[in-house]
Amino acid sequence: MHHLECIDSTNCEARRTILAGAMVDKHVIIADMQTSGRGRQKREWFSDEGNLFVSFCHQVTSLNESVNGYSLAAGLAVRDTIAHYLPSNTIQWKWPNDVLVEGKKASGILLEHVHHANKDWLITGVGINIKNKPESETLWPTTSLESHTDTRLEKLELLKTFVKFLDSYYKRVSANEIDMLIEACLTHAARLGEIIQVRLPTHTLEGVFETIDSQGNLLLTIDGKTQPVSAGDIFFKE
Ligand code: BTN
Repeated sequence: MHHLECIDSTNCEARRTILAGAMVDKHVIIADMQTSGRGRQKREWFSDEGNLFVSFCHQVTSLNESVNGYSLAAGLAVRDTIAHYLPSNTIQWKWPNDVLVEGKKASGILLEHVHHANKDWLITGVGINIKNKPESETLWPTTSLESHTDTRLEKLELLKTFVKFLDSYYKRVSANEIDMLIEACLTHAARLGEIIQVRLPTHTLEGVFETIDSQGNLLLTIDGKTQPVSAGDIFFKE
């Protein structure tokens, strides 16, 4: 593990290390603060001191088939980590890999693929709001773990719990046990069977969240027809 005080982004640091040929398998980069934390869809990630910013780097072989499996697995690992410290029934998984505490976003995952010197690497960047949450308005209501408990959460202890869950779920992906991951996601999924909105780059879809298919796509039923969605942001109607 490489523990930094401050860096632009742990995912950027991981990418630089890979491109310099200095990355080792299952390496963990953690920072106390990020100056340019990055989220999905080129959004910023709030990165004040007190929260967890980590990138887990591992070498992969058949990336194309399994990338969605890794996305589901990472989301589950974060869900289980948070459920380890807060009441499990308040923690939900939100497709594709967000985790909600009492309906508010408490973490984010940014998966990135880097190919260098004939090797494929997957960077799993994870941010967990332990102490702080963004003060400015965000796309989705946010929260921090410590606002749901009187117990002080120890960052490195939480990191250890996360890495243990992540390693175990990633082994399931390598063993092609995607069905198990999908079942676990559906057990904890927010708004399964309800009407949701999916924002895509050009338009918004609205339909019933039916299930997740074997590729990790969200299946939405719109006017009786099922439509798979591979990427997008989901929103709930009140
Ligand atoms: C999201 O948009 O929900 C994903 C946010 C991912 C943030 C984490 S923090 C650690 C790693 N470094 C980054 O710059 N981003 C990821």
